[in-house]
Amino acid sequence: MSDNTPDPWATQAAELLAIAVTVAREAADTARSMRAEGVSGVSTKSTDTDVVTAADRAVERQVIAALGALRPGDTVLGEEFGGTAGDGAVRWIVDPIDGTVNYLYGLPVYAVSLAAEVEGVVVAGVVRNAATGDEWTATLGGGAFRGERRLTGSAQTDLAQALVATGFGYDAKRRAHQAEVLARLITRVRDIRRFGAAAIDLCLAAEGGFDAYFEKGLNPWDRAAGGLIASEAGLLVGGLDGRPAGNDMTVAAPPAIFGPLTDLLAEFDAAGGP
Ligand code: IPD
Repeated sequence: MSDNTPDPWATQAAELLAIAVTVAREAADTARSMRAEGVSGVSTKSTDTDVVTAADRAVERQVIAALGALRPGDTVLGEEFGGTAGDGAVRWIVDPIDGTVNYLYGLPVYAVSLAAEVEGVVVAGVVRNAATGDEWTATLGGGAFRGERRLTGSAQTDLAQALVATGFGYDAKRRAHQAEVLARLITRVRDIRRFGAAAIDLCLAAEGGFDAYFEKGLNPWDRAAGGLIASEAGLLVGGLDGRPAGNDMTVAAPPAIFGPLTDLLAEFDAAGGP
């Protein structure tokens, strides 16, 4: 393709991002206003500490309806209701409220995460902190942004000086394994952070709010938009031993420390255990 030929992928990604941003902003408004009225409809999912609220369901329903109106034929994979039927080339991946425990407690770290995937590749994504209005976006090959500001992740080259964020699953046995990994890792890095919303963690990594992030057990809706934002900010995003980011491990780190960090995580069997 010559330099003057418009890249059809870029055009499509930009169009999908514009839709994602519109839908995510409306969804975030709903999450924030429902929080202002008080948390309702709280129940639990995988464990007694894995909560879902009326707002999680209402926001996901709203996103499905909005995308259905704007993009009939596309499918939607969401945290609360699974996948919708359809055979469109575009699949939307939504976490209506990532950071539900923060939402429950009123901690201002919960987000709507919405990504568009074309033929299995995430091409556009937005993460909007519903409590603060902070918004991160990216398109494949088009860079990552917080508002108008283009993002570059940390340039850290020394793992021992790296501030590393992580998260924990809801299952007690998995947490025990994650805690063992953390107990070993914390002596090898500058310090550890845990904010409670994986999508926001990936965006904070993208803007250099900390140097690196890793977590076992993320689902596609936790990592689709944030993963694109982190990689478009120049971080390497992947799993251990050369595997892609997935349910067993997601790491986002600057190129110089991605290898040392993933090597240590592999040594500590961070992707193993329950
Ligand atoms: C959770 C958050 C948390 C992470 C968990 C996720 P949810 O998502 O992202 O930070 O540690 O692994 O399940 O349940 O709040 O949507």
